[in-house]
Amino acid sequence: MAAPELIRILADGRCHSGQRLAGQLGLSRTAVWKQIQRMQTLWGLPVEAIKGKGYRLGQPLDLLDKAQILRQLSPRATGLLQRLELFDEIDSTNSQLMARALSGDKRISACLAERQTAGRGRRGRCWLSPFAANLTFSLLWPSPRPPQQLGGLSLAVGVMVARRLRALGFASVGLKWPNDLLTPQGKLGGVLIQLSGEGEGPSNLVIGLGLNVRMPPGWGQDLDQPWVDLAALGHPPPRSTLAGLLLSDLLEGLSQYDSQGLQPFLADWPALDQLQGKPVRLLRGDDGLSQGICAGVAEDGALLLRTAEGLQRHHSGEVSLRGV
Ligand code: BTN
Repeated sequence: MAAPELIRILADGRCHSGQRLAGQLGLSRTAVWKQIQRMQTLWGLPVEAIKGKGYRLGQPLDLLDKAQILRQLSPRATGLLQRLELFDEIDSTNSQLMARALSGDKRISACLAERQTAGRGRRGRCWLSPFAANLTFSLLWPSPRPPQQLGGLSLAVGVMVARRLRALGFASVGLKWPNDLLTPQGKLGGVLIQLSGEGEGPSNLVIGLGLNVRMPPGWGQDLDQPWVDLAALGHPPPRSTLAGLLLSDLLEGLSQYDSQGLQPFLADWPALDQLQGKPVRLLRGDDGLSQGICAGVAEDGALLLRTAEGLQRHHSGEVSLRGV
């Protein structure tokens, strides 16, 4: 679904008269006004009403564009992608693709949304992102690998994304194990991987990426950890360009991971690792707590922690910098 016509018209950030809008949309001026109210209350888009002139968005919107996304895909990625869907609003792009996979639809699919109403983060947290501000998208990737042979996939995905952001000039982007996109100023984004599959059979992976691109002024003051967006770090390309480039890298990278595993991605880990040599706490997958100094990752992607009891390897858990 494309963004409603009214938002498309106002996206340029200029002033549009109520009468002209009514003519363009085939609506009465009252109906236009009602739609504007809806945009404000439902989607949090601030619209200024300028007396005698018309309506204007608080700031221009960089809406997603399907053709522009597709243009960024490499020939190999174009050959791999079987479906690309854009939504103005959806509960969660991950949930959408997970439901597809469970219903038996195994096409390689990407799903992007301007806004999620029930965006999901890791460890049951929610992921909040205002309309048309950031990137929230997911990729459904049927992998021939059974679930137990997907070790280190989270790290590989993080490396794919971080490599692209660095190539675009965002040199301070790094990773916090397993795949948080982190900079010295705070968290830039995160990856949520969900999977379905049994025993020795193939797996259906849903890989979701939330990336802060350009938060609206005043937004996100109540988030529970320091965060940053690309706009604060440099000059992000248009969202569709960025989405297309990342999608292309993920399609190619996942295909490489399927055939070669984690190894081709590990070489980049030390340069991206934001935890190396730092004292941390690890809330383990079994709910226990470990403390130690981060000593990089093992060849299978396990976090290496130097503790009073010796070197430990951890395959799951949530790291926090000690004392933070
Ligand atoms: C994290 O907690 O760091 C992971 C956040 C992942 C958020 C993305 S946004 C697109 C996709 N859909 C979701 O519901 N979640 C992921």
